[in-house]
Amino acid sequence: MSGPNTNFDPVEVAALDPEAVDAAVSSALEAIAAAASLDELKALRPAHAGDKSPLALANREIGALPPSAKAEAGKRVGQARGRVNQAFAARQGELEAERDERILTEEAVDVTLPTGRRPLGRRHPIELMSTRIADLFVGMGWEIAEGPEIEAEWFNFDALNFDADHPARQMQDTFYVDPPEGGLVLRTHTSPVQARTLLERGVPVYVAAIGRVFRTDELDATHMPAFHQVEGLAVDEGITMAHLKGTLDRLASELFGDGITTRLRPSYFPFTEPSAEMDLRCFVCRGKDPDCRTCKGTGWIEWGGCGMVNRNVLTACGVDADRYTGFAFGMGIDRALMFRTGVSDMRDMIEGDVRFDAMFGMEI
Ligand code: PHE
Repeated sequence: MSGPNTNFDPVEVAALDPEAVDAAVSSALEAIAAAASLDELKALRPAHAGDKSPLALANREIGALPPSAKAEAGKRVGQARGRVNQAFAARQGELEAERDERILTEEAVDVTLPTGRRPLGRRHPIELMSTRIADLFVGMGWEIAEGPEIEAEWFNFDALNFDADHPARQMQDTFYVDPPEGGLVLRTHTSPVQARTLLERGVPVYVAAIGRVFRTDELDATHMPAFHQVEGLAVDEGITMAHLKGTLDRLASELFGDGITTRLRPSYFPFTEPSAEMDLRCFVCRGKDPDCRTCKGTGWIEWGGCGMVNRNVLTACGVDADRYTGFAFGMGIDRALMFRTGVSDMRDMIEGDVRFDAMFGMEI
């Protein structure tokens, strides 16, 4: 050097010194190579390529150099920054590729692995059919009524016009609740809901009642001491048996398919007059197969009872029987389910074997 250059600040000279610049580059390249993750790499950036990094400082000092020194210093610092930036970009590329690779392996889904599949519960088929029947009536504008399973003898029999010595009242048919003279029975049908409804809701009334009923039947393939019925009751001015028939046909076709109708045969119930047994058109052979196993070749399946509400019942429940008429019907839900599913032993339906529910518990 030929003498002191007053334009030079000793500190600035140090920053631009080729060795200092090389040192800054090496320390940056070393740190970049050592960065093991994208986060680490990002954290290095301010120290080696940020505004306050040695190379940025050096760059800033160039402006203070005499014009003759600017070009060389500019080139040196520019190249140095270029190498550092390139190293950053290259390492960034490597680390990103590594990360992508890792995500692909870590998050890969093995579609052949067995799943932790747990069997889903199903609603019991009787419950499903009950809901379906209830939905049908609600859709027709009817209401749903309920009554207790432990019922007053008066509702189960007296209000329904059963004589005091009617055979159905016998202990052989009816479960009496202890003590027997206490006047409580397990309801033998859903018809007591008729009397309760008339007393509670008055007329006109359109209700369906679905529930469990009890009879002292031995449990065998076609009998159960506890089973389910659906009861219908419609009382209004001008109700006729034609309304009854139309309602039954609607229910039959809803549950068993288009064109499945019903047939009425004269019968007797104390609480309806006239009364009828109700048969369902065989939905398997539709009356066309003399060898049909479902209807035994008769073309019809017995399903329940029905009739016009006996005026004695209306009167006992405070309804003006000269002004109002009504129809009622009651049929077995378990029986209907038995036909529909082809189950030949009713016991299968109540044993609680989940395989039965799984097979018939879902509507298709
Ligand atoms: N309750 C009768 C039975 O259980 C069926 C029935 C209901 C008959 C309504 C007529 C009217 O057998």
